[in-house]
Amino acid sequence: MTALEKQEGVSSAEITAVYRCAVPELSQDKLSEKLSSAAGRQRAAAFITKYNYPLVSRKISVCAGYFLSEATRLIASGKYDSCISFASGFSLLLYNIAVKNLAYNNIQYLDTDLPHMIEERERRINTISHTLDQQVIKNIYTKAFDIEKAYQKNQRLKDIFPNYHKPIFIADGVSYFLSSGCVDWLIEQMGSYTQSATMLYYWPENMPHISSLFARVFSDLNKGMILETLKSFWDQSTIAKFRSQFSHTADYSLKEAEQILAWEKTPVLESLLTDPNQYFPVRLITGEK
Ligand SMILES: C[S@@+](CC[C@H](N)C(=O)[O-])C[C@H]1O[C@@H](n2cnc3c(N)ncnc32)[C@H](O)[C@@H]1O
Repeated sequence: MTALEKQEGVSSAEITAVYRCAVPELSQDKLSEKLSSAAGRQRAAAFITKYNYPLVSRKISVCAGYFLSEATRLIASGKYDSCISFASGFSLLLYNIAVKNLAYNNIQYLDTDLPHMIEERERRINTISHTLDQQVIKNIYTKAFDIEKAYQKNQRLKDIFPNYHKPIFIADGVSYFLSSGCVDWLIEQMGSYTQSATMLYYWPENMPHISSLFARVFSDLNKGMILETLKSFWDQSTIAKFRSQFSHTADYSLKEAEQILAWEKTPVLESLLTDPNQYFPVRLITGEK
């Protein structure tokens, strides 16, 4: 039995790995779901049925596609030396970014997550490595990194990741599992570099009020439905802190991000994320300098 299997419950990472691949024309990801276990795939399907939430896979696919597109734009700017993903779970987003940006071979890639997750991730990647580009995958490093613990010890990202000087940080699907103090610390740390960028999605504090679907699911979230515990929403002061750390920021609704992705495609994809009562209306925020 692996360390992850010994834990009770199913990690949300098992579920998002499945959803990321549900609309590959948006996420450009057909691989991550191969890293999910049978229990994860089962839970992903059951969640949609239980909460009558078919748009969850579109939501996750839009976020994945948007981050892929943003990371590609930032890498092409030539201003950064690395891409560091926090809480990577079973997502192959960094691999997809690396494949798309082979021409920029100076970029270093690092996937991180909690120790037991990173151990399981490596084990599962080994089982599908024959389907991956060997040159690409061998240049993506992994490291155990508990964001909340680093915050409690008041560590510096520059000391934890000493080899990366101009990083692009990606925190896909984790900010709401961190305490408010930890989120503030993380924002300051990501902004502490002369040159850095970041992208993540957050849960705005008004989400239970603007989405009847979210309100319906909310009360169940910390009752063992997933392994991780919901800890924080973003309020105006968190957003202001984020804005103060980066010279350029963009803060989009899912509807806007879906439209941005649709403009990149021909023929234009239909917009489905139009009514927040039918999905979790998270917001996607990027910062760069
Ligand atoms: C919703 S999953 C997202 C996984 C992946 N980024 C994705 O989008 O598919 C949440 C992830 O956050 C990770 N996580 C939770 N608390 C964390 C912490 N304190 N430090 C680092 N990772 C954490 C979990 O292990 C899990 O992989």
